Amino acid sequence: VSGLTNTIAIVTGGASGIGRSLCSRLSQRGATVIIADVNAQEAQKVVEGIHEYGGQGQAYEVDVSQGDDIQSFMDDVVRKYGQIDYMFNNAGIEINGEILSVESGDWSRGVDINLKGVMYGTNAAYRIMVEQGFGHIVNTASIAGLIPLPGLSYYAATKHAVVGFSLSLREEAKASGIKVSVVCPTLVSTDIRTNTAKILSRDVPEYTEFPLGRRLEAEDCAEQILRGVLRNRAIIIIPRVAGVLWWMSRFSPVVFNNTVAALYARIRKTT
Ligand code: NAI
Repeated sequence: VSGLTNTIAIVTGGASGIGRSLCSRLSQRGATVIIADVNAQEAQKVVEGIHEYGGQGQAYEVDVSQGDDIQSFMDDVVRKYGQIDYMFNNAGIEINGEILSVESGDWSRGVDINLKGVMYGTNAAYRIMVEQGFGHIVNTASIAGLIPLPGLSYYAATKHAVVGFSLSLREEAKASGIKVSVVCPTLVSTDIRTNTAKILSRDVPEYTEFPLGRRLEAEDCAEQILRGVLRNRAIIIIPRVAGVLWWMSRFSPVVFNNTVAALYARIRKTT
Protein backbone atom coordinates (compact mmCIF):
# COMPACT_ATOMS: atom_id res chain seq x y z
CA VAL A 1 0.00 0.00 0.00
CA SER A 2 1.37 3.41 -0.84
CA GLY A 3 -0.11 6.88 -0.69
CA LEU A 4 2.14 8.45 1.91
CA THR A 5 5.51 7.97 0.26
CA ASN A 6 7.93 10.84 0.99
CA THR A 7 5.81 12.13 3.82
CA ILE A 8 7.00 12.71 7.39
CA ALA A 9 4.53 11.79 10.13
CA ILE A 10 5.01 12.48 13.84
CA VAL A 11 3.06 10.34 16.29
CA THR A 12 3.10 11.29 19.98
CA GLY A 13 2.45 8.33 22.23
CA GLY A 14 3.51 6.04 19.39
CA ALA A 15 5.09 3.48 21.72
CA SER A 16 1.83 1.75 22.59
CA GLY A 17 -1.79 1.11 21.70
CA ILE A 18 -3.49 3.23 19.08
CA GLY A 19 -0.32 5.27 18.46
CA ARG A 20 1.78 2.17 17.85
CA SER A 21 -0.78 0.81 15.38
CA LEU A 22 -0.90 4.19 13.67
CA CYS A 23 2.88 4.06 13.27
CA SER A 24 2.81 0.71 11.51
CA ARG A 25 -0.10 1.70 9.26
CA LEU A 26 1.59 4.98 8.33
CA SER A 27 4.82 3.18 7.64
CA GLN A 28 3.11 0.52 5.49
CA ARG A 29 1.75 3.35 3.39
CA GLY A 30 5.26 4.72 2.90
CA ALA A 31 5.54 7.49 5.50
CA THR A 32 8.65 8.11 7.56
CA VAL A 33 7.41 7.80 11.13
CA ILE A 34 8.79 9.83 14.02
CA ILE A 35 7.69 8.75 17.49
CA ALA A 36 7.65 11.09 20.48
CA ASP A 37 6.94 9.21 23.70
CA VAL A 38 7.98 9.25 27.36
CA ASN A 39 8.60 5.53 27.02
CA ALA A 40 11.80 5.64 24.96
CA GLN A 41 12.45 1.91 25.21
CA GLU A 42 9.09 0.85 23.77
CA ALA A 43 9.23 3.64 21.18
CA GLN A 44 12.59 2.30 20.03
CA LYS A 45 11.10 -1.19 19.68
CA VAL A 46 8.33 0.15 17.44
CA VAL A 47 10.91 1.84 15.24
CA GLU A 48 12.97 -1.35 15.06
CA GLY A 49 9.84 -3.17 13.89
CA ILE A 50 9.39 -0.53 11.20
CA HIS A 51 13.01 -0.89 10.08
CA GLU A 52 12.65 -4.67 9.93
CA TYR A 53 10.18 -4.50 7.10
CA GLY A 54 12.07 -1.78 5.29
CA GLY A 55 10.31 1.31 6.60
CA GLN A 56 11.88 4.45 7.98
CA GLY A 57 11.47 5.99 11.37
CA GLN A 58 13.05 7.38 14.51
CA ALA A 59 12.14 7.43 18.18
CA TYR A 60 12.54 10.40 20.49
CA GLU A 61 12.04 10.58 24.23
CA VAL A 62 9.66 13.49 24.69
CA ASP A 63 7.20 14.46 27.40
CA VAL A 64 4.39 16.22 25.53
CA SER A 65 3.37 18.13 28.64
CA GLN A 66 6.65 20.05 28.51
CA GLY A 67 6.33 22.81 25.91
CA ASP A 68 10.08 23.40 25.64
CA ASP A 69 10.76 19.70 25.08
CA ILE A 70 8.22 19.53 22.27
CA GLN A 71 9.66 22.63 20.65
CA SER A 72 13.24 21.39 20.63
CA PHE A 73 12.09 17.97 19.43
CA MET A 74 10.20 19.57 16.58
CA ASP A 75 13.15 21.77 15.64
CA ASP A 76 15.35 18.69 15.48
CA VAL A 77 12.87 16.82 13.28
CA VAL A 78 12.66 19.72 10.83
CA ARG A 79 16.45 20.05 10.73
CA LYS A 80 16.81 16.34 9.94
CA TYR A 81 13.80 15.63 7.77
CA GLY A 82 13.05 19.04 6.25
CA GLN A 83 9.27 19.04 6.66
CA ILE A 84 6.32 17.76 8.67
CA ASP A 85 3.32 16.43 6.78
CA TYR A 86 1.32 14.92 9.63
CA MET A 87 1.30 15.63 13.34
CA PHE A 88 -0.67 13.07 15.33
CA ASN A 89 -1.14 14.40 18.86
CA ASN A 90 -2.18 11.05 20.27
CA ALA A 91 -0.40 10.72 23.63
CA GLY A 92 -2.78 10.60 26.56
CA ILE A 93 -3.56 9.01 29.90
CA GLU A 94 -6.68 7.88 31.72
CA ILE A 95 -8.25 10.11 34.37
CA ASN A 96 -11.00 7.87 35.65
CA GLY A 97 -13.26 8.04 38.62
CA GLU A 98 -15.80 10.34 40.19
CA ILE A 99 -14.37 13.77 40.87
CA LEU A 100 -14.15 13.41 44.65
CA SER A 101 -12.15 10.22 44.25
CA VAL A 102 -9.43 11.56 41.96
CA GLU A 103 -6.34 13.14 43.53
CA SER A 104 -5.75 16.69 42.34
CA GLY A 105 -2.18 15.84 41.38
CA ASP A 106 -3.50 13.13 39.07
CA TRP A 107 -6.14 15.16 37.29
CA SER A 108 -3.84 18.08 36.89
CA ARG A 109 -1.20 15.77 35.33
CA GLY A 110 -4.01 14.49 33.11
CA VAL A 111 -4.83 18.01 31.98
CA ASP A 112 -1.15 18.68 31.34
CA ILE A 113 -0.82 15.62 29.10
CA ASN A 114 -4.23 15.24 27.46
CA LEU A 115 -4.90 18.92 26.85
CA LYS A 116 -1.73 20.98 27.17
CA GLY A 117 0.25 18.22 25.44
CA VAL A 118 -2.07 18.48 22.42
CA MET A 119 -1.84 22.26 22.48
CA TYR A 120 1.97 22.30 22.68
CA GLY A 121 2.24 19.70 19.94
CA THR A 122 -0.23 21.51 17.74
CA ASN A 123 1.40 24.88 18.26
CA ALA A 124 4.90 23.63 17.46
CA ALA A 125 3.76 21.73 14.35
CA TYR A 126 1.46 24.50 13.15
CA ARG A 127 4.27 27.05 13.22
CA ILE A 128 6.27 24.87 10.84
CA MET A 129 3.31 23.91 8.68
CA VAL A 130 2.31 27.54 8.15
CA GLU A 131 5.83 28.25 6.91
CA GLN A 132 5.69 25.21 4.58
CA GLY A 133 2.19 26.07 3.45
CA PHE A 134 0.87 22.54 4.04
CA GLY A 135 0.34 19.93 6.72
CA HIS A 136 -2.32 18.04 8.63
CA ILE A 137 -2.71 18.08 12.42
CA VAL A 138 -4.66 15.16 13.88
CA ASN A 139 -5.60 15.42 17.54
CA THR A 140 -6.89 12.47 19.52
CA ALA A 141 -9.85 13.23 21.76
CA SER A 142 -12.44 10.55 22.54
CA ILE A 143 -16.16 9.93 22.40
CA ALA A 144 -15.85 11.42 25.93
CA GLY A 145 -15.10 14.68 24.12
CA LEU A 146 -18.55 14.70 22.50
CA ILE A 147 -21.04 13.40 25.05
CA PRO A 148 -21.35 13.52 28.85
CA LEU A 149 -19.88 10.49 30.61
CA PRO A 150 -20.33 10.42 34.39
CA GLY A 151 -17.38 8.95 36.25
CA LEU A 152 -15.07 10.45 33.64
CA SER A 153 -15.59 14.18 34.19
CA TYR A 154 -11.92 15.21 34.31
CA TYR A 155 -11.06 13.06 31.31
CA ALA A 156 -14.13 14.33 29.45
CA ALA A 157 -13.11 17.92 30.19
CA THR A 158 -9.72 17.42 28.53
CA LYS A 159 -11.27 15.65 25.56
CA HIS A 160 -14.07 18.19 25.05
CA ALA A 161 -11.38 20.85 25.13
CA VAL A 162 -9.37 18.99 22.50
CA VAL A 163 -12.48 18.81 20.29
CA GLY A 164 -13.17 22.54 20.70
CA PHE A 165 -9.55 23.45 20.15
CA SER A 166 -9.27 21.33 17.02
CA LEU A 167 -12.55 22.40 15.43
CA SER A 168 -11.78 26.06 16.01
CA LEU A 169 -8.26 25.76 14.67
CA ARG A 170 -9.55 23.79 11.67
CA GLU A 171 -11.44 26.88 10.51
CA GLU A 172 -8.65 29.30 11.48
CA ALA A 173 -6.05 27.17 9.67
CA LYS A 174 -7.91 27.10 6.36
CA ALA A 175 -6.43 30.49 5.52
CA SER A 176 -2.94 28.95 5.70
CA GLY A 177 -3.82 25.74 3.86
CA ILE A 178 -3.34 23.59 6.96
CA LYS A 179 -5.76 20.75 7.75
CA VAL A 180 -6.92 19.86 11.25
CA SER A 181 -8.93 16.80 12.31
CA VAL A 182 -9.99 15.42 15.65
CA VAL A 183 -10.32 11.72 16.43
CA CYS A 184 -13.03 10.44 18.79
CA PRO A 185 -12.80 6.71 19.44
CA THR A 186 -15.03 4.74 21.78
CA LEU A 187 -13.39 1.87 23.69
CA VAL A 188 -10.17 0.47 22.26
CA SER A 189 -8.20 -2.46 23.59
CA THR A 190 -4.83 -1.02 24.72
CA ASP A 191 -2.53 -0.95 27.76
CA ILE A 192 -3.63 2.57 28.68
CA ARG A 193 -4.40 1.58 32.29
CA THR A 194 -0.95 0.11 32.98
CA ASN A 195 0.76 2.93 31.10
CA THR A 196 -1.17 5.51 33.12
CA ALA A 197 -0.21 3.73 36.34
CA LYS A 198 3.44 3.89 35.28
CA ILE A 199 3.21 7.59 34.44
CA LEU A 200 1.40 8.50 37.67
CA SER A 201 3.51 6.02 39.69
CA ARG A 202 0.47 4.44 41.31
CA ASP A 203 -2.17 1.81 40.78
CA VAL A 204 -5.07 3.01 38.72
CA PRO A 205 -8.26 1.74 40.35
CA GLU A 206 -10.93 -0.10 38.45
CA TYR A 207 -13.80 2.21 37.62
CA THR A 208 -17.35 1.93 36.41
CA GLU A 209 -16.99 1.59 32.70
CA PHE A 210 -19.77 2.70 30.45
CA PRO A 211 -21.16 0.03 28.15
CA LEU A 212 -20.15 1.71 24.90
CA GLY A 213 -20.20 -1.47 22.86
CA ARG A 214 -17.47 -3.81 21.70
CA ARG A 215 -13.88 -2.84 22.46
CA LEU A 216 -12.11 -2.18 19.16
CA GLU A 217 -8.67 -3.52 18.31
CA ALA A 218 -6.04 -0.78 18.10
CA GLU A 219 -5.21 -1.89 14.54
CA ASP A 220 -8.81 -1.33 13.39
CA CYS A 221 -8.92 2.01 15.17
CA ALA A 222 -5.69 3.14 13.49
CA GLU A 223 -6.98 2.11 10.06
CA GLN A 224 -10.17 4.09 10.58
CA ILE A 225 -8.19 7.10 11.78
CA LEU A 226 -6.08 7.05 8.62
CA ARG A 227 -9.10 6.68 6.39
CA GLY A 228 -10.73 9.68 8.05
CA VAL A 229 -7.53 11.70 7.82
CA LEU A 230 -7.03 10.95 4.13
CA ARG A 231 -10.61 12.15 3.54
CA ASN A 232 -9.85 15.23 5.68
CA ARG A 233 -12.81 14.68 7.96
CA ALA A 234 -13.29 17.25 10.73
CA ILE A 235 -14.41 14.76 13.39
CA ILE A 236 -13.43 11.13 13.02
CA ILE A 237 -15.75 9.08 15.23
CA ILE A 238 -14.68 5.46 15.65
CA PRO A 239 -16.54 3.27 14.97
CA ARG A 240 -18.68 5.43 12.73
CA VAL A 241 -21.87 4.02 14.19
CA ALA A 242 -20.95 5.64 17.53
CA GLY A 243 -21.73 8.92 15.81
CA VAL A 244 -25.36 8.07 16.62
CA LEU A 245 -24.60 8.77 20.29
CA TRP A 246 -23.35 12.23 19.46
CA TRP A 247 -26.27 12.89 17.18
CA MET A 248 -28.77 11.79 19.85
CA SER A 249 -27.09 13.95 22.49
CA ARG A 250 -27.55 16.99 20.28
CA PHE A 251 -30.96 16.08 18.89
CA SER A 252 -32.49 15.42 22.28
CA PRO A 253 -30.11 16.36 25.09
CA VAL A 254 -32.62 16.00 27.92
CA VAL A 255 -33.63 12.47 26.95
CA PHE A 256 -30.05 11.50 26.16
CA ASN A 257 -28.57 12.88 29.37
CA ASN A 258 -31.28 11.36 31.54
CA THR A 259 -30.66 8.00 29.90
CA VAL A 260 -26.93 8.32 30.59
CA ALA A 261 -27.65 9.21 34.22
CA ALA A 262 -30.03 6.27 34.67
CA LEU A 263 -27.58 3.88 33.08
CA TYR A 264 -24.77 5.19 35.25
CA ALA A 265 -26.83 4.84 38.42
CA ARG A 266 -27.52 1.23 37.48
CA ILE A 267 -23.98 0.16 36.66
CA ARG A 268 -22.65 2.08 39.66
CA LYS A 269 -24.83 0.00 41.95
CA THR A 270 -23.71 -3.27 40.48
CA THR A 271 -19.95 -2.54 40.53
P1 NAI B 1 -1.65 3.77 25.45
O1 NAI B 1 -1.35 3.94 26.89
O2 NAI B 1 -1.63 2.40 24.90
O3 NAI B 1 -0.66 4.69 24.59
C1 NAI B 1 -0.42 6.02 24.96
C2 NAI B 1 1.05 6.34 24.79
O4 NAI B 1 1.24 7.71 25.17
C3 NAI B 1 1.98 5.50 25.66
O5 NAI B 1 3.03 4.98 24.89
C4 NAI B 1 2.51 6.50 26.69
O6 NAI B 1 3.83 6.21 27.10
C5 NAI B 1 2.43 7.80 25.90
N1 NAI B 1 2.40 8.97 26.78
C6 NAI B 1 1.66 9.18 27.88
N2 NAI B 1 1.95 10.36 28.44
C7 NAI B 1 2.90 10.93 27.65
C8 NAI B 1 3.60 12.15 27.69
N3 NAI B 1 3.42 13.03 28.69
N4 NAI B 1 4.48 12.42 26.71
C9 NAI B 1 4.70 11.54 25.71
N5 NAI B 1 4.08 10.37 25.63
C10 NAI B 1 3.19 10.05 26.59
O7 NAI B 1 -3.06 4.48 25.23
P2 NAI B 1 -4.10 4.43 24.00
O8 NAI B 1 -5.30 3.72 24.50
O9 NAI B 1 -3.44 3.99 22.77
O10 NAI B 1 -4.49 5.97 23.91
C11 NAI B 1 -4.05 6.84 22.89
C12 NAI B 1 -4.97 8.05 22.87
O11 NAI B 1 -6.29 7.63 22.55
C13 NAI B 1 -5.08 8.78 24.21
O12 NAI B 1 -5.13 10.16 23.96
C14 NAI B 1 -6.39 8.29 24.78
O13 NAI B 1 -6.95 9.21 25.68
C15 NAI B 1 -7.19 8.14 23.50
N6 NAI B 1 -8.34 7.24 23.60
C16 NAI B 1 -8.18 5.95 24.02
C17 NAI B 1 -9.27 5.12 24.12
C18 NAI B 1 -9.16 3.70 24.60
O14 NAI B 1 -10.20 3.08 24.87
N7 NAI B 1 -7.98 3.13 24.72
C19 NAI B 1 -10.62 5.57 23.75
C20 NAI B 1 -10.65 6.94 23.30
C21 NAI B 1 -9.55 7.72 23.22
